[in-house]
Amino acid sequence: MKRDVLIVGAGGAGLYAALSAVKENKDLDVAVLTKVYPTRSHTGAAQGGINAALANVDPTDNEELHTFDTIKGSDYLADQEAVKYMCYEAPKIIRAMEHMGVPFSRLGNGKIAQRPFGGASKDRTCYSADKMGHVMLHTLYEQCIKEGVEFLNEWFMLNIVHDGKRAIGVTAINIATGEVELIRAKSIILATGGHSRIYWGYTSNALGCTGDGTAAALRAGLPLKDMEFLQFHPTGLRKSAILVSEAARGEGGHLKNALGERFMKKYAPEKMELGPRDLVSRSIMQEIREGRGFKDEEGREYVHLDLTHLGEEKIKERLPQIRELAIDFEGIDPIKEPIPIKPTAHYAMGGIHTNVKCETPIEGIYAAGEAQCVSVHGANRLGGNSLLDIVVFGNVAGKEAVRYAEGTDFADGGEEKLKEDIEFINELMNKESKETLGDMRNELGEIMFKHFGVFKNEKEMQEGYAKLKDLIERAHKNLGVEDKSKIFNLDLQSTLEFFNLLEIADVLAYASLQRKESRGSFYRDDYPKRDDENFLYHSMITKNPDGSFNYEKGEVDISLYEPAERKY
Ligand code: FUM
Repeated sequence: MKRDVLIVGAGGAGLYAALSAVKENKDLDVAVLTKVYPTRSHTGAAQGGINAALANVDPTDNEELHTFDTIKGSDYLADQEAVKYMCYEAPKIIRAMEHMGVPFSRLGNGKIAQRPFGGASKDRTCYSADKMGHVMLHTLYEQCIKEGVEFLNEWFMLNIVHDGKRAIGVTAINIATGEVELIRAKSIILATGGHSRIYWGYTSNALGCTGDGTAAALRAGLPLKDMEFLQFHPTGLRKSAILVSEAARGEGGHLKNALGERFMKKYAPEKMELGPRDLVSRSIMQEIREGRGFKDEEGREYVHLDLTHLGEEKIKERLPQIRELAIDFEGIDPIKEPIPIKPTAHYAMGGIHTNVKCETPIEGIYAAGEAQCVSVHGANRLGGNSLLDIVVFGNVAGKEAVRYAEGTDFADGGEEKLKEDIEFINELMNKESKETLGDMRNELGEIMFKHFGVFKNEKEMQEGYAKLKDLIERAHKNLGVEDKSKIFNLDLQSTLEFFNLLEIADVLAYASLQRKESRGSFYRDDYPKRDDENFLYHSMITKNPDGSFNYEKGEVDISLYEPAERKY
């Protein structure tokens, strides 16, 4: 199989990249390879909105304020010119999507509605009730179909193949048939999403967010950047960890402890519930730690998100999905009762290192979306900047990938890698499992949440890392595939995904132990202060053939704003 531009992943980044690529050059073969049906991608779970300084609600908003809010929110780890690029592109790309037919909610005057969101100085988050990601995903998919993008649905990428200088293609398994193929591509865009499923059982992420592209990049020798930074969203449902959008607080929801206090007044007196996510998540956990949380019969600890004062009409109009989720998964109607919530692993700020053109160090290999780290989110992403990032950099990646494909031919090689991958799959299929995948995934989630959660320290992390290493060893020794059939073998796919999760958890744990400071989402009790003198750098990690890691320090672009203490 051969495609000029092959995009792996069909979330917002992949679809926008595909759309830009076909529009750029109709004569190229542009294909999207995806392990799920495109409209089941995790972008569909993004709820609250997408940021752009349209100034529809507050005429004093502008791109510069958006840039500054994002840099401050990142705890000064974001690359500032890259942030500026994203924020100045935002109004243009929102209008482009409006013209494609994305059904935004509207103000009385017909303009796109905007709501307040955490860490933002203005009402800047454009929305479609509380289903922004869902409607974007569907519109982008429709547009791709209209423009003739080819979809390889239900294909699972195994590995990225290159010759040390330029892209050769990817190996992938056709889930429907079980056949493993080498798909040659002049340009490859990795838009494979995040990896918060390493916190199995404690995450807002879909089952598919297993960081397949990120793990494949690591195996292919590409650098991963800032992997220690993983965001906990303040409000996940108590039992399932499913997201309750920041829109709930944007529309006026209150966080309350077991004493009925709006505790955010202690932690963010000005912004209150609309502080940035790192701060709000820590504040919730602090209340719980100090005994002011609730505890249910199964020992789950939580606080309340109270929407009852918003009234039925507003909840039904602006937050219908949240209401549905609370009813379905907690048996609670937010019109009548507060929602039990706790922080949930939500978003990877770290990922595959690229520059602002989405280029990795290997020619013809690009990354976009949550899998990518430019970095525009630094140590803490602001709510509403993720949907923005995926379309802005999806657009860039699509155009750059076309530019490269136009000037090159298919590279030779890759047969060895294909053979290796087929052998690996055969081995897994022929092995009897001595442990169960389900138990091992839960164990991974427990280790990560307990030892690499909202609060960390050296002792906890060292203990956690030892447990993780043991789990990795056992998985390689004891895990096989129970289902021996070839057709739609989801047991095989889940096992491969689990191996990806383990590789990523390993890097995240390793990177966390190197950073002896607190910054944004990364908080250590034993080093509670930010330390710009020693740690204002991007961690860059590659894997050596013996499995050990190389750790380097990448420069942070602070050319626009001097790092300062964050106050909210
Ligand atoms: O809270 C939310 O609606 C999530 C938005 C985001 O992660 O940007």
